[in-house]
Amino acid sequence: MDTKEKLDAFQDRIDRGEKIEPKDWMPERYRQQLIRMISQHAHSEIVGMLPEGNWIPRAPSLKRKMVLLAKVQDEAGHGLYLYSATETLGARRQDVVEDYIYGNAKYSSIFNYPTLTYADICVIGWLVDGAAIVNQTMLAKSSYGPYARANLRICREESFHKKQGYEMLAKMASGTDEQKKMAQDAVNRWWWPTLMMFGPPDSDSPNSAELIKWGVKTKTNDELRQSYVDRMVMEAEVIDIKLPDPDLKYNKKTGHWEFGEIPWDEFWAVVKGNGPMNRERIKARKNAYEDGEWVREAAIAYARKQKLKEGKAS
Ligand code: 3HC
Repeated sequence: MDTKEKLDAFQDRIDRGEKIEPKDWMPERYRQQLIRMISQHAHSEIVGMLPEGNWIPRAPSLKRKMVLLAKVQDEAGHGLYLYSATETLGARRQDVVEDYIYGNAKYSSIFNYPTLTYADICVIGWLVDGAAIVNQTMLAKSSYGPYARANLRICREESFHKKQGYEMLAKMASGTDEQKKMAQDAVNRWWWPTLMMFGPPDSDSPNSAELIKWGVKTKTNDELRQSYVDRMVMEAEVIDIKLPDPDLKYNKKTGHWEFGEIPWDEFWAVVKGNGPMNRERIKARKNAYEDGEWVREAAIAYARKQKLKEGKAS
């Protein structure tokens, strides 16, 4: 039972900056919030492999193919650390996976947009992984130990992802007129959806207050979005790319870049399953899950056999 004494003692631990570990007592609501958030994060990593994986066979050189292959494999690894983190909270992997494939569990809105040209792959590396780093560097300080540690490792790999995307885009933006146009067009299409990755405005974010009280999140959606914009304006300028926002304006007083109105109707449409690629993404994941049934069965049978062998040997 979540008694007042237990809740107060738990809050004291959070306020002292202690990490909560799987066997520690935690309020049921804290556990549920973590399962929700970590599993959404895991699904995002896995679904996020689809728009990029699509370009592995069409990468422009062997070097680019190897880099992209490595990046997509990293995303699979991130999904697996994160599913393991949900298991430390007592969730069953099969249940959380089936929750988004057959149910309503969410994954990041950003992966419901199409990758139309190779420039989109560069921009995903720069903008999408760039946004993920801003968000996940904060989550690496999360109060839940396994989630914080998973994010620490994820961020190291995301830094490589972002650098390779930025390097490719810089090359493209300084190439032929056609390449420059491709690079700019991709940025124009991805800029606003990356701002949406940080979630709804704070005034419209039902989970933020509770997550911040419990130290799961240490910054709000709007705070993170602002630090992302400040960083990206600078980086865009260096490679001569324009961000598609006529309202971008530096405010000397606050030291931040002000930006235009985010198309929140589009965000909610995507979150509710009506983005340009939602149906295709879920269909691809459903097919992969169902086609992989025999592999999971074989792995379970093998594990059972090994256990039996070990039992006989001891
Ligand atoms: N896409 C889809 N749904 C979103 C969303 C987004 N970009 N932002 C918010 N939502 C959903 C929330 O999940 C919540 O729905 P629910 O209550 O039904 O679960 C609702 O909108 C209200 O949002 P809140 O602000 O109240 O939700 P949170 O406080 O949980 O904040 C979040 C949302 C910022 C996404 C936070 O959950 C978070 O930081 N999650 C962990 C990180 C993560 O999932 N990142 C996804 C990207 S992973 C990635 O980019 C991979 C890489 O390889 C590039």
